[in-house]
Amino acid sequence: MRTASSKVRLLLSVILIFSITGWSVSDGQDLIAATCKQTLYFDVCVSLLKSDPRSHTADLQGLLAISLNQTIAQGQQMIGNLTALKDHVDHVSGEDDSYVAACLNDCLVEYSDAVENLRQSLEALGKEEYEHVNDLVSAAMTDSGTCEDGLEEETGHFSPLWDSNDYFWKLCSISLAITKLF
Ligand SMILES: *[C@@H]1O[C@H](CO)[C@@H](O)[C@H](O)[C@H]1NC(C)=O
Ligand SMILES: *[C@@H]1O[C@H](CO)[C@@H](O)[C@H](O)[C@H]1NC(C)=O
Repeated sequence: MRTASSKVRLLLSVILIFSITGWSVSDGQDLIAATCKQTLYFDVCVSLLKSDPRSHTADLQGLLAISLNQTIAQGQQMIGNLTALKDHVDHVSGEDDSYVAACLNDCLVEYSDAVENLRQSLEALGKEEYEHVNDLVSAAMTDSGTCEDGLEEETGHFSPLWDSNDYFWKLCSISLAITKLF
């Protein structure tokens, strides 16, 4: 009886200590998790935000800036890869290639557009124009969808860029979800 009640007391103190320390360490880590819970892709969101060390001390606006910045970086990588792919296709002769080259070119235009929209969204964020951020990120998201659709239409299946397009789409979706928190 006595043992049982002291066990209960011990358990209660442990819970108390955990909840106290839980409160006292409610820092960037907690904000990252709480923010990412509001997105459709929790794991992608957490690794996206944590890839920038400033995320640990960032407020919500800072987290959105990091998310947008990482999405821009991803878009720039896409442009680099698309350029290389297109150069490759241009140098290989073949019946089917011209249409593929045209699709890749469309994707290049769409991703350049997307990156420009995202750059402007960072500026809009600086001015706390969240509606505008929302519109610009939505436009960037649509661009990556258009790239994928164009490629799928030709090949009749997921394009080889599906993973990259999908990842970019998810990053935009995460930024949109964070924008809606303001
Ligand atoms: C976003 O990128 C710009 C330009 O590189 C930089 O000045 C800014 O500090 C970055 N912001 C965040 C939160 O990463
Ligand atoms: C670009 O290509 C590199 C090398 O193949 C790859 O590691 C990277 O994931 C690609 N990036 C995108 C956004 O597709």
